This record gives sequence, structure tokens and C-alpha cells, in this order.
Amino acid sequence: MNHTVPQIAASRLPELLRAMPKAELHMHIEGSLEPELIFALAQRNQVELPYDSVEALRAAYAFTDLQSFLDIYYAGASVLLYEQDFYDMARAYLNRAAADNVVHTEIFFDPQTHTARGVGMETVINGLYRACRDAQISQGISATLILSFLRHLSEEDALATLEEALPLRDRFIGVGLDSSEVGNPPEKFARVFARCKELGLHLVAHAGEEGPPAYIWGALDTLKVARIDHGVQSEKDELLMQRLVREQVPLTVCPLSNLKLCVVDDLADHNLPRLLEAGLKVMINSDDPAYFGGYVNENYTQLFAATGMGADQAYQLARNSLEASFASDAQKADWIAQLDAVFAKFGAAA
Ligand code: ADE
Ligand code: ZN
Repeated sequence: MNHTVPQIAASRLPELLRAMPKAELHMHIEGSLEPELIFALAQRNQVELPYDSVEALRAAYAFTDLQSFLDIYYAGASVLLYEQDFYDMARAYLNRAAADNVVHTEIFFDPQTHTARGVGMETVINGLYRACRDAQISQGISATLILSFLRHLSEEDALATLEEALPLRDRFIGVGLDSSEVGNPPEKFARVFARCKELGLHLVAHAGEEGPPAYIWGALDTLKVARIDHGVQSEKDELLMQRLVREQVPLTVCPLSNLKLCVVDDLADHNLPRLLEAGLKVMINSDDPAYFGGYVNENYTQLFAATGMGADQAYQLARNSLEASFASDAQKADWIAQLDAVFAKFGAAA
């Protein structure tokens, strides 16, 4: 720990977790579609849903693994047709994020989910981009976009998707890799990630959510990613743990997602406190907040309540989130000063 965290009473921890400025680096915008918005958009766009009501849809959110979630998540995204739909979805998320004191967010979007249904790439990107810009102006939240390739599809499909997005290159900062992990190793996407690196895009990939540590090695060595999304399986490989500590590779961990997708049986057993203690650069994110029971602050408060972590860990997690972002060093220093000020204020009031 390179900062002295003041003594803060445990009773004030939930308030501190909410108040501290933080970055969210792992959330899928399609995973922020609340059932109410899915139904409103279905009605607006005359899309037929296989559920009769908001309650029936919500009742279907009982997942057994990643794939059981993805099937429902892709069905929910089918209501998105027009630029305004993408805008409305992103503004709703950004309102929630700003309320959680998220000062910066790097939002994943899955263009192939939409282009495969005949929605134009520019419809997707322009709607999301306009929402990010308007939220920055009206709420002061910094928001950027990361285009994610669906790993259950072919690398050719990913390459074609990249080409289609390149006319809008200035509207996204990087690329990621998501969807069904097991059976779709990072090496499958070596060429498209090499091309993205040449283009100067930031690179991240989901690895070690359900898949083995070998996928984390592959994401680092073959895809050359700067961050690992999830990475909770890294604990199974001591050599990998040593490397992640040595290179301070950020892991964007998503506790409520891990619980809802049965990656862990109980939040109290989540390995984030151990990863943090071991010196890994971990942080907390919401992944798909509308499906997993909470936005980023809910992830913080539930994990802290379940594991007994305290103010020291809160500081380190928030700081990690800011440092691991793709924002400029000057911008990061500014947010970290804000973080220090919040902790100083809570310490002074102790
Ligand atoms: N797409 C949306 N959420 C995801 C997750 N948790 N893992 C892989 N792909 C996803
Ligand atoms: Zn994810």
C-alpha cells in the first residue's frame, strides 16, 4: 500500500464505498438493459418477446453457468434496432454509474449481436457515442467505448467486424473479447488482435472466468492484452499469480456476476480478498448489472459485507480501478487526488 489510509469506523464503510470516486472497467452495455427497458423498447419497436411480462422475464434470470446467461442476454438485446435505442440504453446506465460516483467508465459493446440482425454498425456506435458525450456534458462522467468480439463466432467474422467499424475508429478506444469462453481460446483471435495492436487500439480480453489459467497466459502472450477481464481462475496457477503480481496486470473482477453464474458458490468465499492480499491489481466491476442484481456500488457493498474487508482494501480497489483505466496520467492523478480527499474527509470525521 503506497498511501496511508486513515482510520474509518466500520459502520461508515457502506457510505465510504458509495462516496469514493471509482472507475468501472468491465461492464457490457447490453447487460445494463433492465427488464422494464427491454419491454418498453419491444413495444416501441414492435419486437415480439418470448416472455409475457417484466416479472416473467425477471423470473428467467436464474442462471447455472455463463452460457445459460448468454442465451437470455442475446435474446434481450434483440429489442435494440435504432440509434435512439442504443442512446437510451447507454444514458440509463450512465445515470446509474454517475449516481454510484463512477468518474470514468470503459464500456463494452458487442456489435456482432446487432449487425447479425441487420442493424448498421454506425447505428450502434453513434447511439452509444452520443450518450457518452451527453453524459460527460451533463453529469461530468468520463465514458469511453470498447468494441468486443464474440468469441463463439469465427475470427473471420471478427476481422470483418473490425473493418466495418474502422470508419468510426475515433469513437472507440479499444477492443475486447467476450461471450462463451470454454472451447474458444484466445489463440483463435491472434490475427485480429495483432491487427488491432497495429492500429493502436487498447487491448483487453475475458480470460479465466470459467476457462483455465492457460487462457490467461494466452491472452497475455498471444493477444498481448493490457488487462484481463475476470481472471479469477488465476489462483489455480502459482506461476501465473507471480507473473500477474510482477507485471501488475489489472484483473477486472465482477463479484456478483461470479455469484450469479455459479463461478463461486458464496460471496463470502470469493477470492478477490486473497488476490488483493497477494498483490494483484484487482478491482470491482458490475459486468451485466441488470442481470446480476446490482450496479458497481452494490458489488462493492455486498462483497465487503460478505468478506469483512475494510477501508484499506476499499482505497486500494478504487485506486486500482483508476490506475488501470486507459485515461491519461494527468487525468488519473486528478481522480486519485479526489479519492484521497474523500478518504481524508471520512478520516477527519472519525
Ligand atoms: N458477455 C456479457 N457478459 C459476459 C461475461 N460475463 N462473460 C463473457 N461474455 C459476456
Ligand atoms: Zn464480462
